[in-house]
Amino acid sequence: MRIDIITVLPELLESPLGHSIMQRAKDKGLLEVHLHNLRDYGIGKHKQVDDYQYGGGAGMVMMCEPLANCIEDLFAERQYDHCIYMTPDGQTLKQGMVNQLSLNENLLIICGHYKGIDERIREKYVSLEISIGDYVLSGGELAAAVLVDAIGRLIPGVLNDETSALFDSHQDNLLAPPVYTRPSDFQGMQVPDILLSGNDAKIEEWRFEQAVERTRQRRPDMLEEGE
Ligand code: ADE
Repeated sequence: MRIDIITVLPELLESPLGHSIMQRAKDKGLLEVHLHNLRDYGIGKHKQVDDYQYGGGAGMVMMCEPLANCIEDLFAERQYDHCIYMTPDGQTLKQGMVNQLSLNENLLIICGHYKGIDERIREKYVSLEISIGDYVLSGGELAAAVLVDAIGRLIPGVLNDETSALFDSHQDNLLAPPVYTRPSDFQGMQVPDILLSGNDAKIEEWRFEQAVERTRQRRPDMLEEGE
């Protein structure tokens, strides 16, 4: 999979996408992430990318021209499955959407800043608008990093044990069951016996029950969604 990201702050994305599982995905050739500095498309000697909003009011708006030129350059090179705009007024990101997006070949992500991008860019180019939650970040970069991480780890071959993503919280509308590692006795607190039993079928049953119970207690809304 190839993901192109348009941003005014590429440095903000380099670190989150340059370690651990994301770096491994890139090293294995399973994921390519290309950062495009919008400033390179800025206007005039100051490489301007934003301007005051029509109608007045505080906050700058990212201008049409630099964005359109950058997007057109990328569109000329390949067909994108989606042009995604990260924005707090987008569709809230859920695991189901991440699963769907992980099946794509080419994604383009636009990170907004300031008051956001000119509405005409959204109308003309954007096919999907995504929010990572009901709060406002100072820019779309951290949201884009969250999205790329969530998608990248689902690409077959990225995780060591490919089945492990299947048991994540939010797959199948259930939170994950509790997990334990050594020692089996930590300051008198014991690991549940069943996990030491070696009985795989019983362990699986226990994990499922725990997942349902945890979801019922913490996120009953997810059980209703799954019905
Ligand atoms: N940009 C600013 N806030 C955001 C959010 N919550 N989700 C996605 N992009 C954003």
